[in-house]
Formats: sequence, structure tokens, C-alpha cells
Amino acid sequence: MIKGTVDGNLSVRDVRVQYGAVAAVAGVSVDFAPGMITGLIGPNGAGKTTLLNAISGFTAMTSGTLALDAVDIRSSTARARAEMGIVRGFQTVRLLERESVFDNVLVGCERLPQPPLMAQLLNLPSQQRSRARDIAAVTKTLAGLGLLADARRLASELPFASRRLVEIARLLLVRPKVLLLDEPAAGLDAAERRRLVDTLRSYHAENPFTLIVIEHDVDLVRKLCEDCVALAEGRVIARGTPAEVLENPLVKIAYFGQAAHA
Ligand SMILES: Nc1ncnc2c1ncn2[C@@H]1O[C@H](COP(=O)(O)OP(=O)(O)OP(=O)(O)O)[C@@H](O)[C@H]1O
Ligand SMILES: [Mg+2]
Repeated sequence: MIKGTVDGNLSVRDVRVQYGAVAAVAGVSVDFAPGMITGLIGPNGAGKTTLLNAISGFTAMTSGTLALDAVDIRSSTARARAEMGIVRGFQTVRLLERESVFDNVLVGCERLPQPPLMAQLLNLPSQQRSRARDIAAVTKTLAGLGLLADARRLASELPFASRRLVEIARLLLVRPKVLLLDEPAAGLDAAERRRLVDTLRSYHAENPFTLIVIEHDVDLVRKLCEDCVALAEGRVIARGTPAEVLENPLVKIAYFGQAAHA
């Protein structure tokens, strides 16, 4: 994979998110290199989701700084960050069940710049060009994820893994610089997980972008990610390759401590 040639350098410095007495994120500093796939692991309540929310702007940071490609985005809204290329997925799949796979992904085009309403209503040439661009983008994204053969099927007819991929297609459509996924493999069985990993890896190899994935399944992290960050109690406790991080004694204690507690 080509590294250093794509945008999507995300720099997180001393980020804190405080909920009353709880420091959900308690001073995290971490850099995400362009084009890298990073797994974000850690026990329940470690602050993984809160960190992604702070990066995407869905949750306000109490303090700290955030930069995308050396641009300070601390005070940018979630919408502005999305327009700059920081896109996040959600834990639950929300598809339009009675619509086709194609139309489900086309919905993501609303994030792309669109012609003025009047041009859309009158179907002016600018609207026709924009429509052609949207259709090309949907087709390319579906092809990249191996979903083109399913384009005309109703979302409700799809197996679970394909549904997950359709949701991811909607996010990839806008060619994010940084994509944040929160447990994308949740609820998938082993075969579906393999398909998700293989599909994401091959798509990413063709279209590099910075990918940060929260995931509890360490086997999936090993297969998907080249880089790994472990959080516990709102802090980074280990960083390195998945193999290095998973062997780290602090990481073992963080997980074992929780198991002993349960
Ligand atoms: N909106 C909120 N209000 C108050 N406390 C919150 C809020 N969101 C998260 N927390 C707390 O912040 C801490 C970190 O939560 P977070 O959801 O980020 O953890 P997580 O690592 O994503 O956990 P999980 O693996 O269970 O998804 C937890 O103690 C949680 O209870
Ligand atoms: Mg979470």
C-alpha cells in the first residue's frame, strides 16, 4: 500500500472528555498516519466510542486539540468535519428496507455538494451532471465492495454481512479522508466477519484512506489492522502492531481485570 501520499493525517493531542465526575477520555495523545488501518481496542467503558465521538465532533471535548492534515479542527462542527473528510459510522445498521441497495447507497450523496434547489427542480444541466456523478460514485463504490450484483435487490432481502457493507458503502461514497467505524463486525458470525475484513482490506488497498476501527474481536483486529491503540480508563495504555499491543502486559491486565471483576 502507498503510504504518505494520501491525506488523512489525524493528530489528537491531550484530548479530554469529562462527563461530570467521569473522565471518559482522560488526556489522549495519538497520531493516525494517512492511509493506515488502526484498531482501537480496550475493555468496556474504556472511552473508545467517546474518543471517536470527540474526533467526529458529535461530542464536545473538554480540552485538547485536534488537527486534520495540520488544520486545527477543534472548533469545527461535526458537519464541517464531515465536509473536511472525517466520516463516522454508527453501531446500528439503518437501511431503507423497501429501497434497493443502489438507492440505499445513493442516499449518501446528500453529503456531496449538490446544485441549488432550483437547478434540481428544473433538472438543469448542472443537476444532470451532478446526478451522473452521483450514479458513477455509487456504482464505483458498490463495485469496490463486491456489491454490484446486489444493486437492484431490496435492502430487506440482504444477508446481514451485506447489509453492514451497504452501510459502509454509504460512508465510503464520499471518499472520506478519515473513516471511523464503531464495532462494524458486531452481530456478524465468523464467515461474515471474514468477508467484512477481506472486503474492507481490498477496498482500502485500492482506495487508501485513514481507517480507525473500534473492535472487540482481537482476531479481526489482527487480520484487518496494521496498527493498534489500546485504551483503558480513558488513557492510551499501548500502541504498536496488533501483535505487540495484544502481548502488552498492561493490555492483558486491562482485559483480565475486567473479566475478574465480572
Ligand atoms: N453521554 C454520557 N454521559 C455520561 N457518561 C458517559 C456518556 N457516554 C459515555 N459515558 C461514560 O464514559 C465512559 C466511556 O464510555 P465509552 O462509551 O466511550 O466506552 P467504550 O470504550 O466505547 O465502551 P464499550 O466497549 O462498552 O462500547 C464510561 O464510563 C461511560 O459510562
Ligand atoms: Mg463503545
